[in-house]
Amino acid sequence: MMNLIMMPNATGAHLGGWRHPDAWTDTVMNLGHVVEAAQIAERGKFDAVFLADGNAVREMDKPALFAANFPSARPAGFEPATVLSAVAMKTEKIGLVATTTTSYDEPYSVARRFASIDHISNGRAGWNVVTSQYAGDALNYSRDENFGRDERYDRAEEFVEVVKGLWDSWDEDAFPQDKATGQYLDPGKVHTLNHKGTHFSVKGPLNIARPPQGHPLIFMAGQSDRGRELAAKQADAMFGAGDSMESCQRAYADIKSRMAKYGRAPDELRFIPGISIFVGRTEKEADDFYRELQDLISPTLGVHYLSKIVDRDLTQFDLDEELPEVPATVKSGTSLRTYVIEMARREKLTIRQTYQRVVPALGSPVVKGTPAQVADKLEEWYRGKACDGFMISNPVMPRALLNFVGMVVPELQKRGLFRKDYEGDTLRQRMGLPTPASRYTSQGGLAAE
Ligand SMILES: Cc1cc2nc3c(=O)[nH]c(=O)nc-3n(C[C@H](O)[C@H](O)[C@H](O)COP(=O)(O)O)c2cc1C
Repeated sequence: MMNLIMMPNATGAHLGGWRHPDAWTDTVMNLGHVVEAAQIAERGKFDAVFLADGNAVREMDKPALFAANFPSARPAGFEPATVLSAVAMKTEKIGLVATTTTSYDEPYSVARRFASIDHISNGRAGWNVVTSQYAGDALNYSRDENFGRDERYDRAEEFVEVVKGLWDSWDEDAFPQDKATGQYLDPGKVHTLNHKGTHFSVKGPLNIARPPQGHPLIFMAGQSDRGRELAAKQADAMFGAGDSMESCQRAYADIKSRMAKYGRAPDELRFIPGISIFVGRTEKEADDFYRELQDLISPTLGVHYLSKIVDRDLTQFDLDEELPEVPATVKSGTSLRTYVIEMARREKLTIRQTYQRVVPALGSPVVKGTPAQVADKLEEWYRGKACDGFMISNPVMPRALLNFVGMVVPELQKRGLFRKDYEGDTLRQRMGLPTPASRYTSQGGLAAE
């Protein structure tokens, strides 16, 4: 069964989406909208909502770029774990996946946060593990510069190990809470981690009972070799960033082939690329929607945005020249950057052509057409082993999500590709993922000191 994840993304994922007449008009700091988006997605039987995150207001050192900012670049937005706790109270089945960085946080705090959401939501929590590629994040966390990629991943690897270890702190039946005998907890069923590593020293145990899912789901999105290797070892789901079916097929085969050495079966990780959907009752309606949005992107904004992606100021160049040389990827290099530069070189695109390609979906593939045409494309990718599902990015909120749920979901259900109703008790079960056993499966474990 295909998995569908929804990214609420403020007022829309398209660069000009927030300016569209159908977009929510008020501030993105609106809990009601996040709840409404999650409820619409739940009506559409989506597996989960996913909130991306960062730890800084970006681009303030480039005033022209900053002035061209837009809501989905997140100059302002909720802290995801906090807002998803609130969403948990207004939804029943849909999973709640929040992003938290391993570079500027502590494993004990993160283990507590996600164990809490898992309890609050009765087993619907997921953690999108990111390492923070944006250099400016460091400046808010008492550092002068970001960690290099290898160090970020060394830290992330140890961080995730520690968090999983902390989630195993208590056996499921560790709290008998027997009023008659006066025994509240069973001291033989608590485990002290005693972790001393390169980056972290964490004694444990966690002061939260075992999460309903055993471990909340681990999502990852790192596309580098280190990122993929970590996902193959630890993740339940991985977001993809391919620009075509072929590139997603390669990434899918690659990530699944890395898992055996960690004793994992390929279907223990769901590969979920992002995709941007422009659907209409007719082809014309979909085309019109797409064009209306393109018209909302001024060339100035397009050039500024592309400059931001490729990490070079392109404003001094003629828009109809080929994309000029850009410096090689450095610490803050991203997979989107590499993909955009390679595409421009391969197809000899001008600056204008490049931003027009990238901007409609901020880098992810675009699918446009009637419900049947959109479903055909999703089916082709899914059956062609390019993915296990999709992270649906909605160009305008709430219109695009309402259209997807109202038009595309029924088509996928009719074809037997997507669930008609939720089954299972937890996000893990609904996504067809195994529930991890505690590392202390033998009796007793390490008694608390
Ligand atoms: C769908 C998707 C969502 C992502 N969400 C975030 C995010 O919320 N916060 C973040 O810092 N990075 C996010 N990233 C970036 C990745 O975590 C990662 O840093 C990036 O893909 C570069 O890969 P690398 O770190 O392995 O070089 C996302 C990437 C993708 C493809």
